[in-house]
Amino acid sequence: MDWNTWHDAYDTVGSPLARRLALVQERVRAALDDAPPGQLTAVSLCAGQGRDLIGVLAGHPRAAEVRARLVELDERNVRIARRAAAAAGLDGVEVVAGDAALTDHYAGLVPADLVLVCGVLGNLTDADVERTLDFCTRLCRTGGTVVWTRNRLRLPDLVPQVCRWLEERGFERLWVSDPALPLGVGAHRFRGRPRPLEPGERMFTFVGYDVLGREQDIGPGMFGWDVGLGVLGGEVGRPDLDRSDFSRPHLGWSDFSRPDLSRPDLSRPDLSRSDARRGG
Ligand SMILES: C[S@@+](CC[C@H](N)C(=O)[O-])C[C@H]1O[C@@H](n2cnc3c(N)ncnc32)[C@H](O)[C@@H]1O
Repeated sequence: MDWNTWHDAYDTVGSPLARRLALVQERVRAALDDAPPGQLTAVSLCAGQGRDLIGVLAGHPRAAEVRARLVELDERNVRIARRAAAAAGLDGVEVVAGDAALTDHYAGLVPADLVLVCGVLGNLTDADVERTLDFCTRLCRTGGTVVWTRNRLRLPDLVPQVCRWLEERGFERLWVSDPALPLGVGAHRFRGRPRPLEPGERMFTFVGYDVLGREQDIGPGMFGWDVGLGVLGGEVGRPDLDRSDFSRPHLGWSDFSRPDLSRPDLSRPDLSRSDARRGG
């Protein structure tokens, strides 16, 4: 899987991934809106280009109070995320190039007010999904929020189990997306007491949804959605899924991959850059 071009589907208005981003951003925004006054911390595991967190912080009144660390392995995505953060004037956002599974990367920032586990759980074995959610009790502070995603395409749908695993560990469900949407999004608030996050531990092994899909018998047509989740194939084994309502606008982040970056207008996170140019 090319994890750089995987992000291109975000730029297709109406794609499942663009819709998922809008939902994740809503949850991130709500978590920031509800957070207690004072300094806030956020961490994002396998952060990609940081479109979710940076996209929200760019227009949020509390941005200057947030210290965030995004951990991402792909250097191209790291560069794009750094450019996006710099263009938005987000001095508190740090993008670390490294293996997000290693606990050492989060030292000093956890337990955090906001923990993003987006685009991660669908790339892990089920055992590692549970293990990663268990680590959320060390990554997240009391009253903090975990925003997570998990596709519902691989059967059986793991989203209910993700909720159970979190709720067994002291997390309270704030919101979970409509089961008809193929890319599940959820937000849970931690009501427990965080355990210390020890250095030198590995939380998960990132396998990749494409590899996992080949290893498991998931039925024909699964990889209609394989090309960056831009377009869902007709046969995904889930005829009940709603593929119609993916029309939310999003940031046009492709500009950040250009070396001749000019400062985009990030003051309207609900607009794509091209829309912003038109003033619409
Ligand atoms: C499905 S994408 C999700 C990106 C981002 N979180 C989002 O939702 O837009 C998975 C990301 O994980 C990154 N990745 C894969 N293995 C990783 C690892 N061990 N540590 C950090 N990042 C990793 C990939 O490069 C890719 O950008």
